[in-house]
Amino acid sequence: MYVLSCPHLPEGAQTPVGSEVYRGLTARPKMLSPWLFYDARGSDLFEQITELPEYYPTRTERSILSAHADQIVAAAAGCERLTMIELGAGTATKTGLLLKAAVRLQDEVTYHAIDVSRTALDEAKRRIEAELEGVAVVPRVGDYTEGLGRVEADGQRRMVLYIGSSIGNFEPEDALQLLRDIRRELKAGEKLLLGVDMIKNCEVLLRAYDDAAGVTAAFNKNVLARINRELGANFNLDLFRHRALWNEERSRIEMHLESRIAQRVVVPALELEVKLQRGETIHTENSYKFRDEGVIEMLERADFCLSDHWTDNCDWFGVYLATAW
Ligand code: AVJ
Repeated sequence: MYVLSCPHLPEGAQTPVGSEVYRGLTARPKMLSPWLFYDARGSDLFEQITELPEYYPTRTERSILSAHADQIVAAAAGCERLTMIELGAGTATKTGLLLKAAVRLQDEVTYHAIDVSRTALDEAKRRIEAELEGVAVVPRVGDYTEGLGRVEADGQRRMVLYIGSSIGNFEPEDALQLLRDIRRELKAGEKLLLGVDMIKNCEVLLRAYDDAAGVTAAFNKNVLARINRELGANFNLDLFRHRALWNEERSRIEMHLESRIAQRVVVPALELEVKLQRGETIHTENSYKFRDEGVIEMLERADFCLSDHWTDNCDWFGVYLATAW
């Protein structure tokens, strides 16, 4: 997170949220970074999204991990003992499948869970240690790669989990940089398990981001509610429409909030007045979808080589095991 530090900006713009909102709402076109979705309410709405019938990614990735967990963990371990580190662990509901497989293989495993949300990590630790004997959970609140650098594995082989297609939120060059940052923290032979959402029929994709029950719409609009709560703004959520679209050229789903009317909104903590035209949008998220060749190329450009790859019957989601070299 980048914090504007500029003496003539109001104090409210000098926090990570204030700075990001200031930058996004004064940009053209207007945008808000997707990490702003995940306050307590947004994290809860995201959990609800993962259970929607239209939102296939979580369910599909879980089915892949469930079918192949032993093989994945054995391939990653080779003849060594594994320590697992998850980036963006959240409540770590899918990770349990891999942890169970690790306990079957080596009796005990240490699981370092890195996330920006303290509450999600506390819940993950409580649940996993209650349900899975042999797993020690070490929560760490913080940024991905900075947290990764501080993980001690005392001689064990580290396996970094970056699942859930979170990498899809990054622009291609930033995704590559992130993989390079992860690679830099690893020794040759250590592992990365990457979960990515694949390109597929665009109706399937669009439905996943515009569900019938309106949960994704509420998730999208929650970013405005958060700005109201934290920065005292007066966004009226009913005056915005949730929009999801498939950008074929860039292989990404985009989410936007479209202003239904011409309006002005004030953000007191930022001493900012925001004007929106009727039909103007605030771009809130990109969710990139991948082709097999694209994933492999990205891994190779980050100095990983592909060791193994698992998918579902429809090739909707891919789980890639890569080795640092
Ligand atoms: C958490 C980034 C993987 O892109 O599918 C779900 C977030 N946004 N519905 C995704 C999200 C709208 C999700 N990721």
